[in-house]
Amino acid sequence: MRRKITVVGAGNVGATTAQRIAEKGYADVVLVDIVEGLPQGKALDMLQAGPIVGYDSGVVGTNGYEETAGSDIVVITSGVPRKPGMSRDDLVNTNMGIVKAVTEQVVKYSPDCIIITVTNPLDAMTQLAFKTSGFPKARVIGMAGVLDTARFRAFLAMELGVSVGDISAYVLGGHGDTMVPLTRLTTAGGIPIAQLLSQERIEAIVQRTRKGGEEIVSYLKTGSAFYAPSAAVAQMIDAIVLDKKQILPCAVYLEGEYGINGLFVGVPVKLGVRGIEEIIKIELTPEEQAALHRSADAVRELVQLMHI
Ligand code: NAI
Ligand code: 2OP
Repeated sequence: MRRKITVVGAGNVGATTAQRIAEKGYADVVLVDIVEGLPQGKALDMLQAGPIVGYDSGVVGTNGYEETAGSDIVVITSGVPRKPGMSRDDLVNTNMGIVKAVTEQVVKYSPDCIIITVTNPLDAMTQLAFKTSGFPKARVIGMAGVLDTARFRAFLAMELGVSVGDISAYVLGGHGDTMVPLTRLTTAGGIPIAQLLSQERIEAIVQRTRKGGEEIVSYLKTGSAFYAPSAAVAQMIDAIVLDKKQILPCAVYLEGEYGINGLFVGVPVKLGVRGIEEIIKIELTPEEQAALHRSADAVRELVQLMHI
């Protein structure tokens, strides 16, 4: 039987994610939104692309959760995106009500699924989905590190004039201004970037990465990024569905790893069919460790706002 993947939120990120999954052909897709007609219309449109693109995936849109029953993976994108001048953190109050209510429905209809959260502020919303679901930590994963790392890799490739495939990097920490691009371990064709670029240029690229979401919001004005975010979710889903055991930076519940306890923070994990199969521990320098802890502190402040 084909797998079932539900995407909650049929907006920019949700619909694009649903399309990317449908095009993989390995799962049927259910798209859920509160706006009447929106998920139905987009799902039907995606279904009709199948004969052209060459996929057989079923794609269904709905305003309820019955059709989502028995999903293997549920992606939560429902919520409000950032507007110009608004930080991810400003979103916490609105989006926590949405994510909590959605998670309750997800658990009711798909008690064995893996949840991937996207809604911002990402780390706090993932913590909320974890607490609300009561799922083991292996089955609740936040998407941000893959996106932030992709931005870092893209900017470095542009600067060096090389293929993005040559850039190997990890961005750790919370999905916000305190994120931690690990420049020391970043390479182009295996060569440490410190041998290829000045510290000044590296720092400028780190800053652009940290502000990567805002840069797009300032262009779009009425929404935030969705092509790269949906690609990031699709990469995580690939790793799970195809049991790739791929190491990707994701927001995961830490219980002492990296000296952080009881909090969702972005670190490298091994993703496979069981969800998070291992938290990968990188030996950090004292400076990197301090930066990661500063980032975790920023996440903790948001989590405390939610009183969960
Ligand atoms: P959007 O506004 O295009 O779509 C959000 C959708 O959620 C809307 O269609 C809305 O009707 C729906 N929705 C609201 N409440 C709902 C509910 N209770 N149940 C079902 N659907 C509901 O926003 P977009 O651009 O898709 O972004 C979605 C979220 O993802 C935002 O919070 C945004 O900040 C976040 N985001 C996070 C990223 C990350 O790296 N973690 C990257 C990009 C976006
Ligand atoms: C981003 O980084 C809005 O969090 C989203 O593009």
